Amino acid sequence: MRHKHSDYMHWSKTQSRARFNLATSGVAPFPFRELPIDVKELEINGDNSYGYPPLQRAIAAHHGVGRECVVEAAGTSMANHLAMAAIIEPGDEVLIEHPTYGPILDIAHYLEANVKRFRRPEENGWTIDAAEVRRCATPKTRLIVITNLHNPTSVLTPDSVLREVGDTARSIGAFMLVDEVYLDAVYENTPRTSFHLGPQFVVTSSLTKVYGVSGLRCGWILAQPDLAWKIRRLNDLYSATPVHLGELLSVAAFRHLDLLRERARRIVEADRKSLREFLAQQSAVSVVETNWGTTSFPRLSCDSGRNADAFLERLRSEFDTSAVPGRFFEMSDHFRIGMGVNTEMFAEGLNRITRALGRGD
Ligand SMILES: Cc1ncc(COP(=O)(O)O)c(C=O)c1O
Repeated sequence: MRHKHSDYMHWSKTQSRARFNLATSGVAPFPFRELPIDVKELEINGDNSYGYPPLQRAIAAHHGVGRECVVEAAGTSMANHLAMAAIIEPGDEVLIEHPTYGPILDIAHYLEANVKRFRRPEENGWTIDAAEVRRCATPKTRLIVITNLHNPTSVLTPDSVLREVGDTARSIGAFMLVDEVYLDAVYENTPRTSFHLGPQFVVTSSLTKVYGVSGLRCGWILAQPDLAWKIRRLNDLYSATPVHLGELLSVAAFRHLDLLRERARRIVEADRKSLREFLAQQSAVSVVETNWGTTSFPRLSCDSGRNADAFLERLRSEFDTSAVPGRFFEMSDHFRIGMGVNTEMFAEGLNRITRALGRGD
């Protein structure tokens, strides 16, 4: 039976909410009223058959790529789906990092790929070992998939490693899909998109996570022009044209991206400070800390029972606090905490985690 759903998305939509919600992955909503736009300039219909040119130009300029390489998509979710569907045939081998963002795996299974994995070991700081990827790749591998920043850990993969993995992909005629939805949450020396590293690189991203404008569903794919065109034609089967109002507001968001980003940075950094204080005092969890990103992926220590599901259930029912169970990343003794939310709410959520950890099962 073909895999036709995502357990993580379902959980996230139905069970992640709590008064102290640390189960998020993106920055809290940017208030519409603070976006400097004139609503009289908005229109319901527009010329956007295969993309709205001003939005394509804004995305292209953001990444320093040609407009012909940009494909609009409904968020990174649809961008991942479209890119993978355009590349993969049933039975193709697809090599995906472990752990990874669940829906990426779900899409690969839905497309009936032969899914293989390579490990990002916690003991190595969740880094990618290019030699390990080389060992796992075969002449049947059609696509290698990673997230950068890594979801759930926020670990950054440097260009040197991306290049090596890209060399492996090129040597076997495979593509390299890099989901960069969190990359702009590196606030100092923000890396350029990996799309520049070679024609085998296909990149997905959006404004949904790092900029607080998730509701615009402004996502995109960067691909070489021939693949980009194939993806646009494939999207005719899914969603014809995007919502034009969303495109106009997305162009406005790009025009004021620095404003959105600075606000997001302030919120994320305040939360990271609280998280650091929490981790410094907490022996019941261990974590690979990063200086960037919106998520952190602590592991429960042996003393805490190492079953994050039971712990999180108690955290929710007794402390009205939520975080994402590690089982959605195939790591059941971990849980994911999301930064970028209200500072006081975040700090109180951490307080409650401390209390729940203290009490034990
Ligand atoms: C790595 C990764 N890719 C894609 C998505 C989906 O993002 P979007 O809201 O843009 O569809 C998420 C959301 O959490 C994510 O973590």
